[in-house]
Amino acid sequence: MSLSETGEQTAFQTYYKPQSEEYLEDFRTVVDRLFTKTDERMGWYEPWMAWIVTSHDLCKTILADTRLTPDFMKWKFAPPEQAEADKNDFERMLDNALFRLDKEAHRRVRKLASKAFSMRMTEQIESQIKDVVVNAFDKLADKEFFNVADTLSVDIPRGSMSRLVGIPPEKEAIFHKLGWAMVRYNGIATTGEDREELLRAALEGVAMLQDVIQRRRDMPDKGDDFIGLLLTAQEGDDRLNDWEILGIVAAMIAAGSDTAGDMHPTLLYALLSNPEQFDKLKANPDLANNAITEILRYEAFGKTGLHRFALEDVEFEGITVKKGEQIIIAAQAGGLDPAQWDRPLELDIERNLNGNIVFGVGAHVCAGLFLARIQARLMLEEFGKRFPNAELAEPPTRDPAHYNARHITKLLVKTNI
Ligand code: HEM
Repeated sequence: MSLSETGEQTAFQTYYKPQSEEYLEDFRTVVDRLFTKTDERMGWYEPWMAWIVTSHDLCKTILADTRLTPDFMKWKFAPPEQAEADKNDFERMLDNALFRLDKEAHRRVRKLASKAFSMRMTEQIESQIKDVVVNAFDKLADKEFFNVADTLSVDIPRGSMSRLVGIPPEKEAIFHKLGWAMVRYNGIATTGEDREELLRAALEGVAMLQDVIQRRRDMPDKGDDFIGLLLTAQEGDDRLNDWEILGIVAAMIAAGSDTAGDMHPTLLYALLSNPEQFDKLKANPDLANNAITEILRYEAFGKTGLHRFALEDVEFEGITVKKGEQIIIAAQAGGLDPAQWDRPLELDIERNLNGNIVFGVGAHVCAGLFLARIQARLMLEEFGKRFPNAELAEPPTRDPAHYNARHITKLLVKTNI
């Protein structure tokens, strides 16, 4: 019998409180208690019907284990698979998203798409992302106060993603709605009515993307931007078809919209509440990449973690996880594991972060890493330039009901200009 069936409260369950108010406001204290008061690094969490793993080492081991998949449809509680003929275009696009593919298909698509995800490709659009960032700050130029969560958090990720995919500014709103639908469509809390509403918005977005891909395919010179590189990617005779390209864009939207939106207030909150670290970064901008990763470790905004579903019975820490059960890799806890990190509860932008899992690890490592970093670096540079004396006007407000993040709804900055 597995622990999930015994009904006993373990020490892990006593201390693991990811949905508590305390976790929302001060997740480091909750996670630290978990590490210092128990030896358990894996436990059953009934509200999410999942095994949770917390130690850095175990998170890494499980992420690298190919007996588990991120494909939600392999969960024993997933909705029944529809017949191919009954699927609409949005569902077909989701089927091709990177985290839905089986191991071999995923390896093939990531290999073919590798140039499109590269640092070189992202640097090519840096000047366009810089324009997006400058425009977002222009709107704030004369403001005494502004809320990062409804300004920079919206404008920068949305504009950056649209530039990446080549969506004209007037169609950005449709694109944004598609992102919203993608992350919520299969959510546990999504009702049938919500799903219909989400589907309407999503189908409009899919049709627009199909049009973009078709127009680009018809051009004699496909170009060397993101879509151009996907259209021309080739290994021997093997090429990506339109559904696969749509699936890649779908994964980028799903994985890169909310994350990047949460990233901007998180960075500013951490640096404005640790001004000596912000000064260090301003004095040495080369620290930017390290600082961004360190802040995402220290102030991680994830509430749940990375999802995996067992393709067969597997055993970790003496616990049997049965085929079809879910494991949630709480990477935000792994980032605070005292067995891995010295002084884990301190923010140190010069910390040696070798081995971190902030952007994942293994086959599914973040495909948007370079885009996320460029957005973050340009945002911080521009913020430092425009508002050198800015301070936090009040503590952040977070959404207790958010499905997977300690999502900041209001981070009020006093610009002091
Ligand atoms: C703060 C920002 C971000 C963080 C912390 C982050 C983190 C991660 C992590 C931890 C994974 C691994 C997921 C897993 O193993 O299940 C991942 C995957 C992924 N990320 Fe990011 N990400 C960020 C931003 C972005 C952005 C901006 C994009 C796209 C524009 C993006 C695209 C992706 C994609 C497509 C995957 C799936 C890769 C695959 O399954 O092969 N991410 N990300």
